[in-house]
Amino acid sequence: MAKVRVLFVCLGNICRSPTAHGVFQKFVDQAGLSADITVDSAGTSNWHIDEAPDRRSSEAALAAGYDLSSLRGRQVARKDFEKFDYILAMDESNLADLEELCPSSFSGHLGLFLEFARNKNYQEVPDPYHGGEEGFGLVLSLIEDASAGLLKHLKKKYF
Ligand code: 4NP
Repeated sequence: MAKVRVLFVCLGNICRSPTAHGVFQKFVDQAGLSADITVDSAGTSNWHIDEAPDRRSSEAALAAGYDLSSLRGRQVARKDFEKFDYILAMDESNLADLEELCPSSFSGHLGLFLEFARNKNYQEVPDPYHGGEEGFGLVLSLIEDASAGLLKHLKKKYF
């Protein structure tokens, strides 16, 4: 069994959390830790279950070398708190929804993904869904930064 299990959560699971899933998975693969760290993503809503990531997210990710094409939307569930050690929300609203769902027995880490970022100008990954293309570039750069920080944190703590 993998030693550390990481779940990224946003609202729809078609923009931010699949981007985090694809980016962090690549960082884990490149670090040779694929057998030790499992990565997944989910949405707090049930709006996009079984859907592929948003085209704008997929294109921004692919241009930077991350392939999101195998990912499909799913909704986060109470059971996820038994299956994951790190549950990382993209924004405060996602985090509030997760805190509602979180059983008192959960002993893992529930928090904001950008806690692990070096760029301290942002606490949240802004929802790009209703905005322009530039929002997707910002999402990707915030996620790359936080992914590097998260990997460094996990390596220090577990490996
Ligand atoms: P995500 O973005 O939470 O980053 O996947 C959104 C996707 C869809 C919607 C909102 C945000 N929506 O309203 O359908």
